[in-house]
Amino acid sequence: MRVGGERPSPAGATHGFVAALTSFVGRDDELVEVAELLAGHRLVTVTGPGGMGKTRLAGEVARLVAGRFADGAWLVELAAVPDPGQVAAAVAARLGVPVVAGVPVTEALAAVLGRQQLLLVLDNCEHVLGAVAELCAAVLPAADDVRVLVTSREPVGLAGELRFRLRPLSPGVPNGPALPAAVQLFAERARQVDPGFVLDSASAPAAARLVQRLDGLPLAIELAAARVEALGLSQLLDRLEGSLQLLTSADRTAPARHRSLAATVEWSYRLLGPDE
Ligand SMILES: Nc1ncnc2c1ncn2[C@@H]1O[C@H](COP(=O)(O)OP(=O)(O)O)[C@@H](O)[C@H]1O
Ligand SMILES: [Mg+2]
Repeated sequence: MRVGGERPSPAGATHGFVAALTSFVGRDDELVEVAELLAGHRLVTVTGPGGMGKTRLAGEVARLVAGRFADGAWLVELAAVPDPGQVAAAVAARLGVPVVAGVPVTEALAAVLGRQQLLLVLDNCEHVLGAVAELCAAVLPAADDVRVLVTSREPVGLAGELRFRLRPLSPGVPNGPALPAAVQLFAERARQVDPGFVLDSASAPAAARLVQRLDGLPLAIELAAARVEALGLSQLLDRLEGSLQLLTSADRTAPARHRSLAATVEWSYRLLGPDE
C-alpha cells in the first residue's frame, strides 16, 4: 500500500503542514543548514527551549526539501498526544497505515515505510522521547529512503541522531548595518496590531533594546509586540525591565503552553523528573 491511501500523491507534496498566517523572518542560514543535514543524516533533531522557533523552522525546512522525496513530507504533531503509548498510532493514523490486531504498530509502519521515499516530521516530541526513539529505531533500519526530522526541547538520544541546536533570532549589534531578524520580527508583529507602527529614529533603538531584553526569543518577541498598541513601545520597555509576567497572549487559538512565557516555562518544568 501507499501512505495516505491508494492514490499516489504528487512528488514533493507536503501533508499536514498548515500554511502560516504570519511571515517567516530570518533563519536563512539555519534553513540551509538543516536542509543539508537532512541530505546526509537519517534522523535530525532540532532542539532548543520552548518558543525558540523549532516548529516554525521545521515547517519551512519541510517545504524546502519536500521535492527530494517522491512521497513528500508528512507532519505528525505530537504536542497533543499525551501518552507515549499512542505515538506510533498517531504516526500510523497520519500516514493512513491501518492498525491490524495482533501486529505491533511499529512493525506495520516499518513494513509500509520500507517502500516509501518520504520525510517524516515529528513535531513537539519532548514529552514522548522514549516512544519516538523506539519508533525511529524500528522504522529507520527498515526504510532506507525515509528521513525523520524531530523538533524537541531535548534530543531523542538515538545513535546516529544529528542534533541541531536552534539559537535565538539575532538581536543584532547596536548601530549595526542590517536590520536584525529579531527587530524585524518585532516590527512585523507590531504592525499587525498597529498598522501605523514604523521603525524610526525614536522607535528603532527602543525596539532593539526590547528584543535584546527578550534574548531574541521569537515567542517572547511576538507576545511583546502584541502589547505595543495598548502600551506604546517605551512603556512596554519600562515594564519589561521589571517583569516578564506581562507577556501573555490574547490569541485564544495559541497552544496553552505558548500563551505566556510563564506557561512555556511551566510546560518545561512539568517534563522534569523529581531529581531534575
Ligand atoms: N523565524 C520566525 N519567523 C517568524 N515567526 C517565528 C519565527 N520563529 C518562531 N516564530 C514564531 O514564534 C512562535 C514560537 O515558535 P515555535 O516554532 O512554535 O517555537 P518552538 O517550536 O521552539 O516552541 C510562533 O508563533 C512562531 O510562529
Ligand atoms: Mg514547537
